[in-house]
Amino acid sequence: MVGQFIVTIDGTSSTGKSTIAKRIAKKLGYIYIDSGAMYRALTYYAIQKKYISKFHFDKKKLIKDIPNIYIDFQHNKVNNNFEVHLNGISYENKIRSLEVSNLVSQIATVVELRKQMVMVQHFLGKNKGIVMDGRDIGTVVFPNAEYKFFLEASSELRAKRRYDELVKKNKEISFNEVFENIVSRDKLDINRSNSPLIKASDAILIDTENLNLDQVESKILEYINFSNLNS
Ligand code: DC
Repeated sequence: MVGQFIVTIDGTSSTGKSTIAKRIAKKLGYIYIDSGAMYRALTYYAIQKKYISKFHFDKKKLIKDIPNIYIDFQHNKVNNNFEVHLNGISYENKIRSLEVSNLVSQIATVVELRKQMVMVQHFLGKNKGIVMDGRDIGTVVFPNAEYKFFLEASSELRAKRRYDELVKKNKEISFNEVFENIVSRDKLDINRSNSPLIKASDAILIDTENLNLDQVESKILEYINFSNLNS
């Protein structure tokens, strides 16, 4: 058992970050926090309030409404996960829809929202013992984290993995739709001016192109155990 550390896992969408982060947290006896779920919950809220759609985005109205939006995580005893809650309610399935996926990167550009989310993320990490995945966790949220990883793979492979996952869940979707969503999200996440997706200079890069989930997990755990034994 290692001590209480902060482990960050960043990278482009559909690199398997959340699955890996969940597994690492379980092995270390830490809590796992999916920071992307926070931006997804905000997107779901903005859609419900009609602040955003495929055709428009009323950023000003959303920003004005920030005092009415409360995002936190609550423990789900059934699956032992911490789930994001929007004003006290979990919308786990709804925040994973393609509609939310297609709009979330626009919502994630709003600086005022990011500030609020980083405050919640800092609160969650105050006692350490946490694995958090996202885009800016090792750079902006926890720049002093003990262990930082950055996962990457080609867009074609990521789209294929995501497409296979959705087909398994009986979602009717084309490979092209999934591919386009991944490419356009990456573009917005990488090019936004505030907290863009970028590898922290001290993060360990893991190219998952030719690795399965077990291999990625082993690599990360080996690294944590090795440096922990040698510190
Ligand atoms: O990890 P995900 O695909 O569920 O994340 C959804 C979106 O949220 C992603 O396109 C970018 C944004 N995001 C972010 O800007 N910062 C984070 N720390 C996590 C996610």
